[in-house]
Amino acid sequence: MTGLPFPAVRATSGAPEGLPGLPDQFGRVAQDLRVSVTDRCNLRCRYCMPAEGLPWLAKPEMLTDDELVRIVAVFVGLGVRQVRLTGGEPLLRRSLVEVVRRIAALEPRPRIAMTTNGVGLDRLAQPLADAGLDRVNVSLDTVDPREFADLTRRDRLADVEAGLAAAAAAGLTPVKVNAVAMRGINDHSVADLLRWCLDRGFELRFIEQMPLDAQHGWDASTMIAAHEVRTLLAERFTLTPLPEADRGSAPAERFLVDGGPHTVGIIASVSAPFCAACDRTRLTADGQVRNCLFSRAETDLRGPLRAGASDAELADVIRGEMWRKARGHGIGTADFVQPDRPMSAIGG
Ligand code: 5AD
Ligand code: SF4
Repeated sequence: MTGLPFPAVRATSGAPEGLPGLPDQFGRVAQDLRVSVTDRCNLRCRYCMPAEGLPWLAKPEMLTDDELVRIVAVFVGLGVRQVRLTGGEPLLRRSLVEVVRRIAALEPRPRIAMTTNGVGLDRLAQPLADAGLDRVNVSLDTVDPREFADLTRRDRLADVEAGLAAAAAAGLTPVKVNAVAMRGINDHSVADLLRWCLDRGFELRFIEQMPLDAQHGWDASTMIAAHEVRTLLAERFTLTPLPEADRGSAPAERFLVDGGPHTVGIIASVSAPFCAACDRTRLTADGQVRNCLFSRAETDLRGPLRAGASDAELADVIRGEMWRKARGHGIGTADFVQPDRPMSAIGG
């Protein structure tokens, strides 16, 4: 067949035939797919959403399970080795266990991870593990109930704690905890959070707050930088940096805590970006492929898919989007413009 029903496919391809998989112009190759399975959330974290929430995607705009699994299969055919399910809050997708089961049946089977806020994980951890989920990252910024309620605008700390315990019991290990420190909200309790995680064997990583909130309220001057988190933790713990070589494409700088064996990670996503080693690609809940969290453009897969595109044609669209990936996010430069889509609609 020559002419395609959707000219966009032709216009978007561009990766050289000789380079297989998902390369870009700067020599990186994507192998880690992040899939946002819903843009909805049951929390309202200040660094992410306004109190009233956001206009959620309507059902017909969202990929169905069949569509989502088909696109993930195309990505796996293009060399993706890990699939991370995100949101919004991924546990809010009713069919999540089934989606995991179907992704785990793909050949070659990708590793399957999930980033969740942990609310509802107490009931779902075991069914998800049984379906093939390998690991979880749970977002938890503080273990002080008042700070938690202030930061997430919901009184759900106990649910998250129960979710974390269930994840460990279900073998979704190593259980990682992601935290964002916000000035005046949870910055003075970061050491308490580390103590709490160490006591339970959870691997804590701090992430610098990024300009991805729907309200566009991010401000470089109020962001708590990685070095500041390190200073705050060092008031209570001895941190010994692990060699850079152990890091690979993982973005966290890791430290042994009090001589080990446990570690803490600090991810300087803004102040020392890891873009040069990035191996990520992203699929939104409405079927757009994005080459970067911060890209201003994305490419539609849902339209071609619903118009009858073949797997090879979908692969061509994905390769074109990835080939155009920018060298870096440029936060802090004069040219930086925050993407229109907030984090909750992209997926972490
Ligand atoms: N900056 C940094 N991290 C963020 N997250 C959500 N919004 C932001 C932001 N603006 C985190 C969540 C979760 C992961 C998906 O990203 O807490 O851990
Ligand atoms: Fe929900 Fe995650 Fe956004 Fe918090 S950061 S409101 S948990 S999507």
